[in-house]
Amino acid sequence: MKECVFDLDGVITDTAKYHFAAWKKLAADQLTLQLPAEFETELKGISRIDSLIRILNWGKIREHYNDQQIADLAAQKNDYYLKEIANLTASDILPGITTLINQLQEHDIQLSLASASKNAPFILKKLGLDDRFDAIADPAKVAHSKPAPDIFLEGAAEINLPPAECIGIEDAVAGIQAIKAAGMPAIGVGDPHELRQADEVVTSTAKLSFVLLESVWRRVNS
Ligand code: BG6
Ligand code: MG
Repeated sequence: MKECVFDLDGVITDTAKYHFAAWKKLAADQLTLQLPAEFETELKGISRIDSLIRILNWGKIREHYNDQQIADLAAQKNDYYLKEIANLTASDILPGITTLINQLQEHDIQLSLASASKNAPFILKKLGLDDRFDAIADPAKVAHSKPAPDIFLEGAAEINLPPAECIGIEDAVAGIQAIKAAGMPAIGVGDPHELRQADEVVTSTAKLSFVLLESVWRRVNS
């Protein structure tokens, strides 16, 4: 194992809940739709536009909106989201993540970020983690979003390492599918049943460690 590819939202910081809060507000205020709590899982890891299309399809109102209106609604959601995360600081880094980063770097493991979020560089900076990562894959550069492997492959390519030398960490079903499709062992953070396609699932980021990642990587590659 030479590289660890991290998801951001829901792995490094708990912004998944703010994404959903912003979607709920947009749906209620602009679309007169009440999003059920179960929808949160479905939107995890899904790009901004794809998330909006899923919501419109769910409400059976997709055909009422043209491309410009969809872009405007997505921008409005992002405004709500940016307000939600305005006060993010290093204290919002999830438990165990800073220790994991320290352990990985002590073992010369390269770190990259494979987030679907266009806000990822801004968020990493707010958390004070921007200079800890060797590469940040740009979701605007990849052809297909999660569950396609593209962003994880880009995370490996930016460091010039083959996917077989990497391991990925994700909280979303679409993200686990993306890691596996990229040919990397996948660590899930969350519900073991929901994330059953992962090679290992931890219920909290506090349970992540270099030793765990290394042992999963060895097991999957043996
Ligand atoms: C992912 C989140 O990390 O990024 C999704 O899990 C979100 O919920 C996606 O839709 C895109 O984020 P952004 O910040 O570009 O709207
Ligand atoms: Mg996530």
